[in-house]
Amino acid sequence: MSQQGTAGPDQGDTAPFLRALAGETLPTPPIWLMRQAGRYLPEYRELRARAGSFLDLCYTPEFATEVTLQPIRRYGFDAAILFSDILVVPHALGQDVRFVEGEGPRLDPVTTLAQFDRLKPEIDLGFLSPVYETVARARAALSPETALIGFCGAPYTVATYMVAGRGGDEQAPARLLAYGEPETFQVLIDRLVEASAAHLVAQLQAGAQAVQIFDSWSGDLPPAEFERWSTKPIAAICERVRARVPGAPIIAFARGAGAKFGAFAHAVPANGFGLATAEDRVAARAAAPAGAALQGNVDPLALMAGGPALDAAVDACLRDLGSGPFILNLGHGVRQHTPPEHVAQLVARARRTG
Ligand code: CP3
Repeated sequence: MSQQGTAGPDQGDTAPFLRALAGETLPTPPIWLMRQAGRYLPEYRELRARAGSFLDLCYTPEFATEVTLQPIRRYGFDAAILFSDILVVPHALGQDVRFVEGEGPRLDPVTTLAQFDRLKPEIDLGFLSPVYETVARARAALSPETALIGFCGAPYTVATYMVAGRGGDEQAPARLLAYGEPETFQVLIDRLVEASAAHLVAQLQAGAQAVQIFDSWSGDLPPAEFERWSTKPIAAICERVRARVPGAPIIAFARGAGAKFGAFAHAVPANGFGLATAEDRVAARAAAPAGAALQGNVDPLALMAGGPALDAAVDACLRDLGSGPFILNLGHGVRQHTPPEHVAQLVARARRTG
């Protein structure tokens, strides 16, 4: 086992997830899955029905804590991720946000400087106090070996929902605004850098031991736009967070960065980088800075399929990435109709216990 880094003094010392993020190569990789809590779990669906709306679930610490812990109890993952959503940031900036059953998020679109000015100048952290209380409760309930991850959306991805008012259509409204009025779009991105950094700092102060920044949509951008709207704002968030919480472990996930991954990983001072399903793992390792942890990238559809295809997908990730700092995850979130027993299969295969 090579030890390329050491865990910092307040990183919980032993949690394998934090050791991997600190640059250690572990014989068995730590495991967690994006969207590990969610509709594929019957216990989630049961609690979701009791909570009412999705946002009620996110903002009720008792329920959100329980949902955060559900996948840990079932599978013993190495990390829990706070149960919340990336769209609580625009909500706490005063934008109207709701989730329509079976369709997804709906926001009152903001596209002009005048509309941006009607939002709050700074994120209302008091409005998000139930989220930080959930972090504290979840941390208190977890064993020291299980790390707790906080998160936010990257400015570009969050902006695509704020501008369009919804997902879909290649996030075209935000891209059109970015081309047509780059200075206007920059104002929104800059506000989101500040708001997101403040939100991550509050999560770290409440008990999160690492944070992940999700850029789900920037992979579609051409290289120059990717650098301006994804790489630079994410790097700025890392710097702001580290200024307030020195050494905070950060994972940056620019989904679908592809050929842009190497430049991204060298410009963003994160400890770890998420790889989407279609990334070439060997090329990504060669392109990443020495000592960076890589996280990914089993195909969520291989997880849904299960059987020998899932075993093969897990083995391929371990073969390609296991000789360096590595966290086993999916290339995107767990799909809704994934059989829960396939998740158990993934964990057993990766830990060589099944
Ligand atoms: O388990 C976890 O990963 C933690 C919780 C989490 C959720 N969303 C819960 C959720 C996290 C980290 C997110 C991130 C998120 N949210 C992203 C980035 C990651 C990605 O998937 O690309 C994005 C783009 C969103 C915005 C969002 N939230 C959309 C587009 C939707 C609707 C689509 C869908 O899957 O329903 C959501 C809703 C949402 N967020 C659900 C969950 C469990 C489903 C809500 C329900 O129960 O009906």
